[in-house]
Amino acid sequence: MTPALLEVEHLSKRFPLRRTAFDALRGHPRPILQAVNDVSLSVARGEALGIVGESGCGKSTLARCLVRLHDPDSGTIRYDGADVLALAGAARRAFNRRVQMVFQDPYGSLNPRMTIHDALAEALRVHAVVPPAAIPARVAELLALVHLPPDAATRRPHAFSGGQRQRIGIARALAVEPAIIVADEPVSALDVSVQAQIVNLFLELQERLGLTLLFITHDLRLVRHVTHRVAVMYLGRIVEIGPTPALFAAPRHPYTQALLAAAPRLVAPSLVAPSLVGGRRRREAATRGELPGGAAIPAGCAFHPRCPVAVERCRRELPSLTPRGTPWPVACHLAGDPA
Ligand SMILES: Nc1ncnc2c1ncn2[C@@H]1O[C@H](COP(=O)(O)OP(=O)(O)OP(=O)(O)O)[C@@H](O)[C@H]1O
Ligand code: SF4
Ligand SMILES: [Mg+2]
Repeated sequence: MTPALLEVEHLSKRFPLRRTAFDALRGHPRPILQAVNDVSLSVARGEALGIVGESGCGKSTLARCLVRLHDPDSGTIRYDGADVLALAGAARRAFNRRVQMVFQDPYGSLNPRMTIHDALAEALRVHAVVPPAAIPARVAELLALVHLPPDAATRRPHAFSGGQRQRIGIARALAVEPAIIVADEPVSALDVSVQAQIVNLFLELQERLGLTLLFITHDLRLVRHVTHRVAVMYLGRIVEIGPTPALFAAPRHPYTQALLAAAPRLVAPSLVAPSLVGGRRRREAATRGELPGGAAIPAGCAFHPRCPVAVERCRRELPSLTPRGTPWPVACHLAGDPA
């Protein structure tokens, strides 16, 4: 088995919320929002892992903990065997270089006054990736890698479309020769027609450069072709994690089933088994009710108020994420039961 490049164990991140004036007067404590809750996962070198779930389920918070933009409250992160949370000085800078993030809106992180050459050259200089004389050639290589024309180097961000700007964002992440790219909703801001092109670029780069990729999205369709495995998150926890094609063909957790069933028109019939697109059982399982906030996570299985097959035990007992007669880990008391 390929050794894990990134290993996360029992990671949790909470955010204290503001009290209302009423709560403050009554001396109530500040409410705590549990954004990421006891998440464990490992990613092998060269693997592409999708992280999916509805808005607010903690995907970005998890990503930001992984690249150390947030300090988790508990848990461990190991990169190539090293304890990431204990890194300091040169070792931390080396880690910052090896793990790069691609954001939803590259425009926000591109200086509008800098040419693309200068933006890429800056990344190359900060981390001393190549000698100064080699920078122009490396910039040209990076542009070619993301399929932008050579003259893109002389232009400024406003001259580009959203898809092209995301290509620039990806080129800048690649400039420092990372081992891992954490892409947080990298195509959500783009037109649907452009999304596939950028997803294909990720696929191509991942295979060509042997990158390890964490592809985060609320849109299940997008991970179908670009990832080897998918982790499904619900209210801060992973509820199912398994190989992409098999999980799409036969999701085991009622929430994953609901996610797939809730978007039948979005999921092209050629991408998903017919039973998932039109099957009655799956349609019945479509997500019901409101997503509770992370500050009011239901007891037991957090999905129970929305789950179409919940039983009494679900209200009381938190299901652990383990294989239960299932081919991959699923956090559902009924996952191994016959349908
Ligand atoms: N800095 C913060 N302070 C307080 N609460 C936060 C902060 N960042 C995130 N949250 C809350 O944590 C929860 C998880 O948010 P997060 O952004 O990680 O979700 P997400 O899955 O990335 O959602 P989306 O699909 O909308 O990007 C949400 O309830 C969010 O409001
Ligand atoms: S544990 Fe119960 S409530 Fe949770 S997903 Fe499974 S059946 Fe539904
Ligand atoms: Mg997010």
